[in-house]
Amino acid sequence: MPNTHLRADRVEADFDRLLSAAGDGLVVASNRQPYRHDYGDDGEVTVDRPAGGLTAGLDEVMRRVDGTWIAWGDGEADAAVVDGDDTVAVPPDGDAGGTYTLRRLWLDGDEVQGYYYELSNQVLWPLCHAALATVESCGDAWADYRRVNEQFADAMAAAATDADGDPLVWLHDYHLALAPRQLRERAGAGPTLAHTWHIPWPSWDTFRACPNRDALLDGLLGNDLLVFHVPRYCENFLRSADRGLDGAAVDVDAGTVEYRGRTTTVRAAPMGVPADRIREQAGSAEAAGFRAAFRKNRGIDRDTRLAVGVDRLDYTKGVVQRLDAFERLFADNPRYRGELTFVQIGTESRSAIPAYADYQERVEAAVDRVNDRFATDDWRPVVYTTDMISNEGLAGLYREADLGVVSPVRDGMNLVAQEYVAAGADDPGVLVLSDQAGVHDTLGEWAVSVRPHDTNGFAAALDDALSMPERERRRRANALADGIEDDDLDSWLADVLSAVAGVASADGGVPTRADH
Ligand code: UDP
Ligand code: G6P
Repeated sequence: MPNTHLRADRVEADFDRLLSAAGDGLVVASNRQPYRHDYGDDGEVTVDRPAGGLTAGLDEVMRRVDGTWIAWGDGEADAAVVDGDDTVAVPPDGDAGGTYTLRRLWLDGDEVQGYYYELSNQVLWPLCHAALATVESCGDAWADYRRVNEQFADAMAAAATDADGDPLVWLHDYHLALAPRQLRERAGAGPTLAHTWHIPWPSWDTFRACPNRDALLDGLLGNDLLVFHVPRYCENFLRSADRGLDGAAVDVDAGTVEYRGRTTTVRAAPMGVPADRIREQAGSAEAAGFRAAFRKNRGIDRDTRLAVGVDRLDYTKGVVQRLDAFERLFADNPRYRGELTFVQIGTESRSAIPAYADYQERVEAAVDRVNDRFATDDWRPVVYTTDMISNEGLAGLYREADLGVVSPVRDGMNLVAQEYVAAGADDPGVLVLSDQAGVHDTLGEWAVSVRPHDTNGFAAALDDALSMPERERRRRANALADGIEDDDLDSWLADVLSAVAGVASADGGVPTRADH
């Protein structure tokens, strides 16, 4: 296994010191924006937070360190609230936690279709999740992808020029694979470029199916630092660069690629969650109120045990397989009928893509099937909702649930599993976790592991988790809580900034946890 796992020194994370070692200020770029402005029914401007792990985590980081975040302005009222430089200060309630600058980019309909819906989400997303049969042919989408990446590169170059010195430019995810090279061509060697890839990197045998594989590798190797969530993805990337690019000198053990006169360092840093804040939210009066109201409004008896799943409605999340497993559980174990309800929170995602629209229908059909088969006058086995739920409400549900069920068929990391653990209380529940989630590499030992397609094994695991003795439950919950405290969001940020500082300075920079 290559020496790529980053562990920054976790003593009092001193972000100012780390950040100033990494660059003069911070510029972040991602496709998805952390806040979207729209118009409500009464014509008033509303603001909401798009669902997704990347924006949820990075927003926390930006509140703390300030800086500029460049992203696509896809909300109806986005253009109405920006200033002459297309920027707006966020979050809207920022007084409590600090604000930062959101700089919006505008895409036309063809660009959204080609760059976002087709190349990003019907080629790269399924490819990286090893779903080759779901990859669609792309025609002109590649040209749109390149053009939108250039827009991002222009905006990042402008922000870097405005900065007082050479900033750290931190790019995110698969929408922006060409932008590092394009930015390098515009901004020269000055700014340090780091890129976090939030989804898996597949094996070479899968990646080689990518129609634009050379250009993607070339683009990403414009970065100084490339970060994945787990070491396996680092290794897959390094082997892809080795096999896929003529002229690349790859050192898998050192985690480096030399290519076109530049060295790119490849590291793993598992993304965490703000564990303390989630725990507080779970214990708040709002959370308690939400829990009670949720049970009442959804007709869930006070004594009924709960299992909970929370997902964007994406075919990688394994919601259909999860419902199959609950159906099997209720079929084989009648004692759970009337005693247990599975609550699935699902957020609509990428619905203009047929595979996503189909998936939503499959989830609804599976919910109906299980309910039609087992529901009684005063009990339903599955409660399914696509309602938007506040952070406090979610944390409250996590705390209430005897089981947190996270069963993706493939997932880069997965924050929901960590949020469930963080929200746990004195009488903790059990985390049921797919071995296909990146976070299984760090939490799998204390979770109840499942293979999402093994319906019988999954149902048996649910039964085991529901009947786990209290002592064992506590033992596992304590270990899980320690794990997510150690690898929380602050640690992740410290890990990444330490690595950036390391590649930015000739002498190796700030020590990382691996150096101790
Ligand atoms: N989330 C949410 N409401 C939902 C579904 C998800 O607020 O209905 C949040 C969830 O709490 C988590 C993030 O969206 O913070 C999902 O991150 P994860 O890494 O689990 O998956 P992703 O959606 O990024 O693939
Ligand atoms: C995943 C991706 C993010 C993306 C999020 C939501 O977490 O890694 O880049 O923002 O899903 O998907 P969306 O297409 O709505 O941005």
